[in-house]
Amino acid sequence: MIFVQVASFEEWRQKARHLLLARVPPAEVDWEGEGLFSEELPAPEAGTPHVPKAFVEAAECAACFREPRKWDLLYRILWRIQHENRQLLQVASDEDVSALRHMVDEVRRDSHKMKAFVRFRKLGDDYIAWHEQCHLVLERTAPFFARRFGPMRWAILTPDRSAYWDGMDLRFGPGVPRSQAPSDDAMEELWKTYYANIFNPARVKVAAMKAEMPVKYWKTMPETALIPGLLAGAEQRVREMVQVEPIVLEERPDLWAARLLQAKAPLGEIAQAVSRCRGCELCEKTHAVFGAGSHAAPLMLVGEQPGDQEDKQGKPFVGPAGQILRQTLAALRVPVEHVYLTNAVKHFHWEDKGKNRLHKRASPTQIRICRPWAEAEIQTIRPRVLVCLGVTAAQSLLRPDFRLTRQRGQLIESPLADKVLATFHPSYLLRIPDPEERAQQRALFDQDIALAYQLSLEA
Ligand code: URA
Repeated sequence: MIFVQVASFEEWRQKARHLLLARVPPAEVDWEGEGLFSEELPAPEAGTPHVPKAFVEAAECAACFREPRKWDLLYRILWRIQHENRQLLQVASDEDVSALRHMVDEVRRDSHKMKAFVRFRKLGDDYIAWHEQCHLVLERTAPFFARRFGPMRWAILTPDRSAYWDGMDLRFGPGVPRSQAPSDDAMEELWKTYYANIFNPARVKVAAMKAEMPVKYWKTMPETALIPGLLAGAEQRVREMVQVEPIVLEERPDLWAARLLQAKAPLGEIAQAVSRCRGCELCEKTHAVFGAGSHAAPLMLVGEQPGDQEDKQGKPFVGPAGQILRQTLAALRVPVEHVYLTNAVKHFHWEDKGKNRLHKRASPTQIRICRPWAEAEIQTIRPRVLVCLGVTAAQSLLRPDFRLTRQRGQLIESPLADKVLATFHPSYLLRIPDPEERAQQRALFDQDIALAYQLSLEA
């Protein structure tokens, strides 16, 4: 018997992959074991097991189920998918599948409850909430609060883990015992005042609240006592309500872009906002280079960031890498009005190397801060086909672990456009020293752009 202990989905995934490739059947693994991962473990065979996406998604969700028996179940299902039935997840009557579905449902329900019942209390400039989760859903659910309460600094404390949001980054730390949860009367009063101030009667759905709010959560929600009084004066307050806006939009491209999108602002207005953006330090150093091309283009190409020439001329893809791209488009006879060119990051990031400004890769933070602008361009233009040129654009817009070596030239599921693919960045082609290899990679690049153009012509 092999004893394995895991603390996270990622850890389970790695170990399960190892065991699967080492052909260790589920009956020989004890996932709740106290021992360490056996050093005697047979070496895994080479290869990558094919695991259906639906299983990975369900497993990631079920991994938040509180009881450790989930690891055992997940490995057994994984094994059975590989060795018995690739369509196993569709067999609803199967005992393992039904147990997995139960776990997924429970976790989803608990995550929903967290979204519905977490209430923040004001503590100085920060907001703090205490919540008792049934399952381990904090990590999964906290990004919802980061999106919803982006401008606030907040913490959600649970006995298992805690989440902290500083307006930019989400971090997780150890849990806080209930005895240390903020519960003194002064805070309670503060919280009630805060709740009375922000109470938006237009948003209250009384019936839904009564139906949804289990008694279990009442103890963490002091405002429940206030609601009848607040509702009594609701109509008057709806009329009086004034929106207070303490946010500096220039420093919050995420909020600014969202607001422009909501107002269905034209692209020119988004471009102006980008030129005034002060979201990161790059904005102080170089010009903003917004996208260029037709506002109704069916084909959009997204690069990494403007280079030296682009910064000087204020247009994307006008330097050496742009020449390669434009050559390819010209060879395919792509009409100018068919294409929109832009970048994942709107500023040239460079370092001083003697006389020249040398391109420096944008940092993950700079990429993340700038992403709402590229997304706003995509959502405004709504191209039929979106092409990410290079790994920076692909990781920013598609997924952070995107690998060109694995997924170049393939169609990728994405809500951003009907057809999405990624290919090399043209500047990569410029840097390949061996002429033969350069020609080979260039052919692949040309082929990918040709495919994208072809797809963009299809209705
Ligand atoms: N490289 C890019 O990614 N974008 C440009 O605009 C120029 C070079």
